[in-house]
Amino acid sequence: MIILGIESSCDDTAAAVVVNGEKILSSVVSSQEDLHNVYGGVVPEIASRKHIESISMVVDKAIDAAGISLKEIDGVAATMGPGLIGSLLVGFTFAKAFSYANNFPFAGVDHLKGHINSLFLEENPPLFPFVALLVSGGHTALYYVQDHLNIKLLGQTRDDAAGEAYDKVSKMFGLGYPGGRVIDELAEKGDKEKIFFSRPYLDKEAFDFSFSGIKTAVNRYIQTHNETYKEDIIHIAAGFQEAVVDVLSLKLINAAKKTGCDKIAVVGGVAANKRLRAKVKKEATGAGLSLYLPSFDLCGDNAAMIAVAGFHCFKQKQGFAGLDSDVYSRSSFNLLTL
Ligand code: KG4
Ligand code: ZN
Repeated sequence: MIILGIESSCDDTAAAVVVNGEKILSSVVSSQEDLHNVYGGVVPEIASRKHIESISMVVDKAIDAAGISLKEIDGVAATMGPGLIGSLLVGFTFAKAFSYANNFPFAGVDHLKGHINSLFLEENPPLFPFVALLVSGGHTALYYVQDHLNIKLLGQTRDDAAGEAYDKVSKMFGLGYPGGRVIDELAEKGDKEKIFFSRPYLDKEAFDFSFSGIKTAVNRYIQTHNETYKEDIIHIAAGFQEAVVDVLSLKLINAAKKTGCDKIAVVGGVAANKRLRAKVKKEATGAGLSLYLPSFDLCGDNAAMIAVAGFHCFKQKQGFAGLDSDVYSRSSFNLLTL
C-alpha cells in the first residue's frame, strides 16, 4: 500500500511517499527556519503564508522523487492536529482537495502519533507494548504504546515543552530559532559540572514535567552575570542541558519500570539531542531495557511518519476524514493511571 503523507503543523512543509508503513520512497521537508530565526520563534501568520506558497511544490516533488505515478497512490494522510491552526489548515485542506479530486481514501492523522510511528521506519522497530518519551518544541510527554494507534498518556509537561526551553535559552543568548541544535553543539564544548541548575523533577515518581523554571533560572543567571556570562556560554548551555536530560531520562526509565515494559523509545525533535541519546542509552543498558531511537532526520517534523500512521489508519479502518473534517490545536489521549 503506497501512502502519500502531508505535514504542515508548525513551520515545516513536508510530503512523503511510504510503502506499507515501513519503506520511504521519498521524503521532502521544506523548512521555514530562516524566516522565523530573527523573531526567536515561529510567527504563525508568516508560517501559514509560507505553507501556502510551498505545499503544492513540495507534494509534486515528493511524488516525482518517489518515481510513482498518481494512479499508484492508495491513500493520502495529512496531519489534522495538534499544531498551529493556520498552518494545519493549509496542509490538511490541500490533502482534502487532492484526495477528493483524485478519488483517494483520506485519513486525518495526529501529529504526536506520527512522531511515535517514526520508529517503524527504522530497521528494527520495537514490538508492542513499549514506553515512548515524546520530546518536541510543542510537547513533552510519556506514553504507553499498545499499538500504532492505541496509545495511552502517562504524563506530560505542566508548562513548557523541553524543546521550547531549548529555544528560549537560545533566544536569551541571542542565537535565534530553533535553538535545540545550537545549544546541543555549545553544550558539547562546555563543562556540565561547572554551573549547576536544579533538576525540575517535581515528584520523582510522577510522570509529569515542568521546564519553565529552569528557563527562568538560566535567565536569572544571565542577568546576575551580565558582564561575564558570554565567556561562560558553553558551560551555561552544558549545565542547562544536563538538568533537562537528567529529568527526561530518569522519568523515562521509571515509566518503563512502573509499566513493566522492557522496551523504551525517544521520539520528536529533541530526540536528535546527542547528550539525551547518550544518556538514555547508558541508563537503558544499566536497567536492562531495549532502546529505540529514530535516525536524526526522522526526529524532527517530517511527512514520512504521518504516512506510517496513515497506513495503520487505513489498515485498521479508522481515522477516515471527509470534506467536513476539521483540524484541531490540541490532542486528547486517554490517561493511563498506574
Ligand atoms: O518535533 P519537532 O521538529 O517539532 C515539533 O513538533 O515541535 O521539534 C522541534 C524542536 C525545537 O524546539 C528544536 O529546538 C528541538 O526540537 N531540537 C533540539 C535538537 N534538534 C531540534 N533540541 C535539542 N537538541 C537538538 N539537537
Ligand atoms: Zn513534531
